[in-house]
Amino acid sequence: MPFSKGFIRQVVESTNLVDLISEHGITLKRAGTNYKGLCPFHAEKTPSFNVNPLRGFFHCFGCSTSGDAIKFLTQYDRLSFSEAVEELAKRASIPLEIESGNSRLNNLDEDRGLRCLREAASYYRNNLVSPEGATAMEYLRQRTVPENMQDHFQLGVSPDKWQGTLNRLQRNKIGVPDLLSAGLIKVSEKSGKYYDTFRGRLMFPIRDYRGRCIGFGARSMKSEDKPKYLNSPETSYYQKSQVLYGLYEGLSSIRKLRRLIFVEGYLDVIRLHENGFEDAVAPCGTALTPGHLKIVQRYADTVILLFDGDTAGKNAALRHASLLLPYALESFIVTLPEGDDPDTYLLKHGKEGFEELLGQKVPALDYLVQQTINKYQDSIQGRVQGLEELLPAINDINDPKRQQLTLMAIGERMKIPAEILAKELKKETNKNLFNKDNNASFKCLPIYENVSQDEKWLLQSLLRKGELWPLVREHLHPQDFQTPHFKQLYERLLQLPDTEFQDFDPLKLKHTDPELFQSVIILLTEEIPSHDFGLSLRRIKERNLENNFQQWLLESTSNEERAYAGLKRRKEEDNLKEIKQIFDNIFTL
Ligand code: UTP
Ligand code: MN
Repeated sequence: MPFSKGFIRQVVESTNLVDLISEHGITLKRAGTNYKGLCPFHAEKTPSFNVNPLRGFFHCFGCSTSGDAIKFLTQYDRLSFSEAVEELAKRASIPLEIESGNSRLNNLDEDRGLRCLREAASYYRNNLVSPEGATAMEYLRQRTVPENMQDHFQLGVSPDKWQGTLNRLQRNKIGVPDLLSAGLIKVSEKSGKYYDTFRGRLMFPIRDYRGRCIGFGARSMKSEDKPKYLNSPETSYYQKSQVLYGLYEGLSSIRKLRRLIFVEGYLDVIRLHENGFEDAVAPCGTALTPGHLKIVQRYADTVILLFDGDTAGKNAALRHASLLLPYALESFIVTLPEGDDPDTYLLKHGKEGFEELLGQKVPALDYLVQQTINKYQDSIQGRVQGLEELLPAINDINDPKRQQLTLMAIGERMKIPAEILAKELKKETNKNLFNKDNNASFKCLPIYENVSQDEKWLLQSLLRKGELWPLVREHLHPQDFQTPHFKQLYERLLQLPDTEFQDFDPLKLKHTDPELFQSVIILLTEEIPSHDFGLSLRRIKERNLENNFQQWLLESTSNEERAYAGLKRRKEEDNLKEIKQIFDNIFTL
């Protein structure tokens, strides 16, 4: 252990956990001695994330994540244990311990692939400012990328050789396996030799939100070098659908503004940051994915998407507007004049011009409705066609309130009465149910819901083994479920007579309870892995027990109360043992 226990304790005790968590953009509200907020570790709509500042401890009753400040940083910022300790020490201005000549600053536990990427980035950076980088410097000068931005984004240049990076990093004692896993070299199929992935290109290090280089975007500087941009291959460090270029560089602004401006290219991001729009980010050589949007929700409440004014840009805007619809984000679309991208627009019109352009932003929903209406004739027939195009996106909105509001807004804009819309939507939902290609399980199970696998398996085996039903209904209660969808499902199942389960026929539900039918069918059609039903049940119970215990602890204000919580826990554990025995006997039959 690189740090002494005393040091770690000192660091943790000097940290105000509420401040630390709030600085990460999570809103906490006081509730008695504790603070409460929406859990950053799973998606939820009602706060179950509790922070006890006195004990320096957090716990989420929704997903059971709990721990202290170090745990928070290891989970939320994905730091290693030592990095988290260092980070907290820095925050609290506590000097780092230096042990037996081995400075902690050596990053002893740094991942080898990450070290490789860090060294590559620094090699490329040094290259750029050395005589070897003259051509690249000239290119940057032509494109008017100022020095401070080159530095802020740590731009560099890769050597125009087949094995420049390979040789250089090998000299730094980095081996071929690490270079391969970092995506910096490839192996030739013909000769079996290794060669550099990036040769003679302007290098844009892509950093994660901790500032660690995880990959590169690389631009050719000669028109004959194709492709224009080359991105790191997918590696365990770099998954393009999870990374936003510019996020790290603009993090402090983004945390304050809780806004993100989406552009397409690396140089667009840099140009915007240069002009004070530090919340500009870009997906790296890919369209926006739900994976990106998950990250976005962590940092922003508002997103502005910029698109080119050409047909391709307009189509992209339309696609993105409908992608964004289900998310609880204020989203806006801005289209640029044809022929411009954000970089060239800013160069022509300056900061003020760009502010003006942003001022013309259109809410994504309005954009979507307007553009869809425009596609069809202004007739009843045309509006119905437009509506049909919009319904799938509305159907994807899982929050019923949000869905209702969106429906009303669309009805208003399309001049279609809301009741008719609601009816059409219902048809759409039913259509999806029987359309396997439509990934029906996602339609029904809200995508934001953090699904407990154990709960799912448990229901799936229950529906397949009707004989277990009487015993299960006695010991398993709706409140044992944490996934709201499954809880509701189970509550509905409980209302059915026991006899239904002797030879469970879901088709009978089709007319009596279509919604239940829908959910049940999804659970039944999905293949389940072979697993131990009893174990799932036990894990659910154990998880809930642990949650309850944490709740009692959080609520207790004296040693007596804490002792009582312990007592209650032991009693529950005994109960659980009994249940376990009952079920173990049954399942070994
Ligand atoms: P653009 O072709 O619009 O280029 O690609 P750009 O960003 O304006 O770049 P400059 O100004 O010519 O330098 C937009 C984005 O699409 C991805 C890159 O992420 C790029 O920034 N892209 C483009 C690729 O991944 N590969 C390519 O070959 C081209
Ligand atoms: Mn450009």
